[in-house]
Amino acid sequence: KQNERESLFIILDWAKNFFRQQLNESEEGQSIAKPYFKERGFSEATMEAFELGYSPEAWDILLKSALKSGFTEEIIQKAGLVTQKNDDGKMFDRFRNRVIFPIHNVSGKTIAFGARILRNDSQKNQAKYLNSPETDVYHKSSIVYGIFQAKNAIRTEDMCYLVEGYTDVISLHQAGVKNVVASSGTSLTPEQIKLIGRFSKHITVLYDGDSAGIKAALRGMDLILEEGLQVNLVVFPEGHDPDSFVRKMGSEAFTEFVKKESKDFISFQASLFLEEAGEDPFKKAEMVKEMVQSIAKIPDAIQRSLFIQKTAGMMKMDEEVLLSEMNKIHLKQY
Ligand code: CTP
Ligand code: MN
Ligand code: MN
Ligand code: MN
Ligand code: MN
Repeated sequence: KQNERESLFIILDWAKNFFRQQLNESEEGQSIAKPYFKERGFSEATMEAFELGYSPEAWDILLKSALKSGFTEEIIQKAGLVTQKNDDGKMFDRFRNRVIFPIHNVSGKTIAFGARILRNDSQKNQAKYLNSPETDVYHKSSIVYGIFQAKNAIRTEDMCYLVEGYTDVISLHQAGVKNVVASSGTSLTPEQIKLIGRFSKHITVLYDGDSAGIKAALRGMDLILEEGLQVNLVVFPEGHDPDSFVRKMGSEAFTEFVKKESKDFISFQASLFLEEAGEDPFKKAEMVKEMVQSIAKIPDAIQRSLFIQKTAGMMKMDEEVLLSEMNKIHLKQY
């Protein structure tokens, strides 16, 4: 088993280099993929730092090349680099005509790939992103994208920005915000939070400014609290994500915005729901219950009581009422 993991690391590293070579040296790489990244504002240094690549528009160029390099079909398949045709069972490359985002583990080894279509129009019937399947070295739910490039900065800043996507990580990194990782579209997991927690106990969630992003932020927030980490959140203007926003505003304005808009989970919920609830007691009660539910997830009793205080003040409510409500929920949970 240990041997097989080693073999997987070796072929994944080989594949990463194959994709990079395709980006940097092939005709298509130069004429299609490089311009794609450049249009997105990625510099050469950024492409290097994230080891970005390109998979050509061909059925089995990687497969043939890997076999020629001495890898067995079995290990190529186990690495998730090929898939099988339904009709004749023939193997072909999983990633075709896509730009490649290698996914690294904490120590910088390539464990998987994310792959994006280059054109939204002519590749419209295909999923925007295609990712490696689960393998013996890649467990999607226990890794965050960018952790290798971000870990030192997370430690020195004692804070980690959490974003949704590959390109959010890369654009922020290039703008000088290096303490950033992505949950890569899936809903955040306890394992991912624990991984971040090895480097800092403070997470600031920067999810996309759409309803899906806000929903995911609310879910992620509760999980982060449950893991005993501190969480702040920022809502981006409708239709923006960190990548588009930092490109539009520039890095200074971005940092300003994030600093100004960053809210703890109580203020975040209040700002989301207060306007809608107004003075309607039923709606307000619902909202307060949501807040109390989040507070009940915090393992530390002193923190819980301080957030109850804050909520009581903010909602102009009796602290005792909130406290007894919170204790009911907390006892049920643990
Ligand atoms: N994602 C995925 N599969 C998809 C769509 C999204 O795995 N079909 C993941 C990717 O990791 C992606 C993240 O979810 O980076 C966020 O999705 P989205 O916001 O749609 O993409 P962006 O990262 O903003 O990508 P782009 O700017 O290139 O459109
Ligand atoms: Mn999105
Ligand atoms: Mn985007
Ligand atoms: Mn996005
Ligand atoms: Mn909640």
